[in-house]
Amino acid sequence: MSLPLSRRNFLQTAGAGGITMWIPKQAHAAEESVIGMSKWDLDTPALCVDLDKLERNIATMRKKLAATGIASRPHAKTHKCPAIARLQLAGGSIGVCTAKVSEAEALFAGGIEPILMTTANVTPNKIRRAMKIRKANRQFIQAVDYPQNARDLSDAAKEAGVVADVVVDVAVGTRSGVPPDERALALAQLVDKLPNLKLRGMISYDGGAQHIKGFRKRLDESLKRYEPSMQTFEAMKRSGLNTEIFSGGGTGTYNIMTKVPGFTDLQVGSYIFMDCQYLEIGGEDNEQQYTDFEPSLTVMSTVLNAYFPKRLTTDAGAKALTLNKPGPIVIGENGFTYNAGSDEFGAIQYETANKEYKVGDRLELIVPHCDPAVNEYDQICGTRQDRVEVVWPISARGHSQ
Ligand SMILES: Cc1ncc(COP(=O)(O)O)c(C=O)c1O
Repeated sequence: MSLPLSRRNFLQTAGAGGITMWIPKQAHAAEESVIGMSKWDLDTPALCVDLDKLERNIATMRKKLAATGIASRPHAKTHKCPAIARLQLAGGSIGVCTAKVSEAEALFAGGIEPILMTTANVTPNKIRRAMKIRKANRQFIQAVDYPQNARDLSDAAKEAGVVADVVVDVAVGTRSGVPPDERALALAQLVDKLPNLKLRGMISYDGGAQHIKGFRKRLDESLKRYEPSMQTFEAMKRSGLNTEIFSGGGTGTYNIMTKVPGFTDLQVGSYIFMDCQYLEIGGEDNEQQYTDFEPSLTVMSTVLNAYFPKRLTTDAGAKALTLNKPGPIVIGENGFTYNAGSDEFGAIQYETANKEYKVGDRLELIVPHCDPAVNEYDQICGTRQDRVEVVWPISARGHSQ
């Protein structure tokens, strides 16, 4: 059977798992054609990042950590974009994290080497994929949280002809990781003994602590919840195990984890973009709003219907924003209630507006939660003073394996 279109119309690129992918040259040309355009003229929904704010967020993180001796190893699950990972590394980060093996593949294909995969790979094929990355990239580190998984990883590393770098994932709560008791120490000792693994230390991330509202409450509860992880770290150290990595934390606890003895690096993700969920939690200096980092990420949207009084319909619904809680923020308006519950449409209700809206008008939105929203787009437009300066492919979008 012949191909419907000649391959001459496609560009060849490396996809997940080393699979060759073909992207249409037209799509590539379309990316280029928006350079220099105002973000207010883009076809919508369009994902944009304000480059000045993005760069300031990276610089702010560096500045705030400078005196603490703690590094950042940002989580690339937030942006899934090698170009942004490169900016973070240039801005002082010691590496990046990924949640999925396919994200690690896409980032490595995009030239990023210091990668720590924070989720364990538990199936034979994913273990092989991880070890394939490790063989090509000496700076790849993999998390484990079960003894059998460590043995499987060691066997796969042997087959690949490498000694793989490993961190033990220690649980906070019940999501993932080995419980922070004698089982964690035993796993670290096993990793240390297995012939084709090299223990690098431990990771321990508390997903439940990041969005606790009110800085004081977040501080007290995070440190209390983290106590068993600290004890596990101490036990590993006392046993003479390698503890060069003690990593965790996120945007909500970046200035709390610095109080944990022995802690080495923060897996902060959302700080580069921010979103409605994070704006709500309040910070150390501002209990009402979390203003430590600036909301750099927005979705440009268009008004599709303005017939009905005090109602607007936009083209940004669940497929453009993914989550609807807390409601997206329309920049420049205070009294808008935005419901993004419908697949294709956003529904706005208001009592008063700062202008009279008509069909075709553009709105700029802060998204409810940045990670899943970014995962909906092929590319992100980097803007400066509203002009598109660069278009970056979000290479790992949709890479959920
Ligand atoms: C393991 C791990 N580390 C770090 C982060 C980053 O968190 P945040 O986006 O809140 O900074 C996440 C986010 O879910 C995570 O799952």
